[in-house]
Parts: sequence; structure tokens; C-alpha cells
Amino acid sequence: MSDYGSYPAARPRRLRTTPAMRRMVAEHRPHPADLILPAFVREGIEEPVPVSSMPGVVQHTRDTLRKAAVEAVEAGIGGLMLFGVPLVKDAVGSQGTDPDGILQVALRDVRAEVGDELVLMSDLCLDEYTDHGHCGVLDEQGRVDNDATLERYAQMALVQAEAGAHTLGPSGMMDGQIGFVRRALDEAGHTDVSLFAYTAKYASAFYGPFREAVGSSLRGDRKTYQQDGANARESLRELALDLAEGADMVMVKPGLPYLDVLKTFREHADVPVGVYQISGEYSMVEAAAEKGWIDREAAIVETLTSFRRAGADLVLTYWAVEAARLLRR
Ligand code: PBG
Repeated sequence: MSDYGSYPAARPRRLRTTPAMRRMVAEHRPHPADLILPAFVREGIEEPVPVSSMPGVVQHTRDTLRKAAVEAVEAGIGGLMLFGVPLVKDAVGSQGTDPDGILQVALRDVRAEVGDELVLMSDLCLDEYTDHGHCGVLDEQGRVDNDATLERYAQMALVQAEAGAHTLGPSGMMDGQIGFVRRALDEAGHTDVSLFAYTAKYASAFYGPFREAVGSSLRGDRKTYQQDGANARESLRELALDLAEGADMVMVKPGLPYLDVLKTFREHADVPVGVYQISGEYSMVEAAAEKGWIDREAAIVETLTSFRRAGADLVLTYWAVEAARLLRR
């Protein structure tokens, strides 16, 4: 064997020899400040209600949400994305535009509690508020009416901005939603409220557990407005439109099944790019870990690292607070 000397000369394994070496040469590092915690606040409950399909996630009371916000500040994460779960749902999602609707009172609570210590974001979409569970209002044939929905989104934007949101997350995939909401905000003087556009949002089976989290009664699917998973090029068209309409940040959603789209966004967008690790992605890891089939913490960090590697500046994840601790180790 010694005839061969020390062949091969190139040994990539040299840089993998110790934890310190691996840490030093790591190309990508998820950071707590890049993480955004999505959180649910439900009207009319006295105690937090666990979301059974998302172990560890709850529907908060107003009070426990304030505490969660303080914990988020202490953990050093970047922000919160709030979703409201109203007591009463109706065809037009009235509670989404009521200044005293659950999301609006929660925004005021959290803003009063933590001020500008983190970025306070709110979901700008109707599906949490409609009795049919669609992201917009329906026309006489029962189809989601794009332009009538835009009017509702503009009203939602104003009440959310007035309640103290720093950033709004239009997530309904209506055409023209970014431009329409931007104009409504600007005309009302909310020029500093930013828009985090759900730009490439795919009709996904991985949203399942979210339906429980917001008590959605959706029948059918969202395939006439959310993107088809077969299409990548189309997401570039959505990106061009959202940037032209004034998106301040853009997002790809879900995360793991769409890393290619995320990478393309990084190459084409000059604004911060986010990714949403959605409910089903979370629940898959939790379920497999519960069965003892995977190492939960390692899997969490690996997914977050994969988003960074694919080009994400920001990650929405239900593990945000816990991950902030894991990343500091
Ligand atoms: C729309 C919205 C959804 C999610 C975030 N915003 C549901 C959907 O579009 O079907 C899903 C998030 C998740 O699954 O974690 N309001």
C-alpha cells in the first residue's frame, strides 16, 4: 500500500474533522433574527387551545399571546406573523375588517406589550374569517371573485395598520393584491407599513394542519387562485408583478417542496426573500420524532439550514422560538 504514498492529495474530509472545523467553514448559518413565528389568537377562549395536528402549537388567548410575544423578544427572533380566529364567521369575513375583530385587538395588545422590539406582522387574507373557508368573497356562481376580494383586502389592510401592524402579509393570491393594498395604505397615510407578499404560494397538501389551527371549514380546494405545483416559471411572473406593484419583501410557500423556486427568487429579486415552513412541514417532523424515527432537533436545524442554503433571508417557522435556542448552542 505504501507504494501509493498518501494518495489522494485532495481530501475534502480534512475540513470535516472536528466540530470546531466544521463550524468555522460553514457556508450558511441560520440566525435567530431571521426567524418569524406564526401565531394564532382565538376569540372567546379562557385558556389556550392546543392544535392537535401540530403538537406544541396552540391557539392563544389574548393574554397568552402577549406572553408569547415577550418570549419571542427574549429569544431574539425577528418577528411575529399573527392570525386571528374569530368566534363568528360569515360569507364576507366581517370580523377581518372590524376594528374590534380579534386580530385587530391582538395587534393592539402585542404592540402595547413589546412596541418596536420585533416586527409585528399580520396575515391579510379572508379564509380565517369566512364561513366557506375561501380566501375571498364568492360571486353568484360560488367562485372566488378577485376584484370584489381586493376591496375587502384594502379594508383589512387599513384596520390592521391602524391596530399597529408594521408589516402586512397578503396571502390570498388574488391578482393585483399588492398594488391595490399599497394604494389603499398610502392614501390613508400608512406609507411606512410594509408589505411582505406571499408571492409564490402553491396549492399544497401540506396546509392540512393549518385548517385546524384556524378552524377552517373549507370545502373543495384553492386551486383556482393558488399556484399549481407543476409550475416554476410562473412564479417568476408572480414575482415580477409583486415587485412592480410595490412588494417590500417576497415569499415562497411552502418551503421544503419548493426549494428550487426559493433559489430562483434569490437570483431574481433585489428585496428580502422569505420562505414559509408551513404547518404540514412542521407536523411531519413532529410526528416522525414522536415515533422515534428521526432526531427532532437535528431535523429542525437541518431544514432551517436548507432554506438559508437555497437563498432565504427570512424563515417563517412554528419552531422559531425553540430554534433560536438551538441555533445559539
Ligand atoms: C392564508 C394562509 C394559509 C396559510 C398561511 N396563510 C392557508 C392557506 O392558504 O391555505 C398556511 C400556513 C400553514 O399551513 O402553516 N390565510
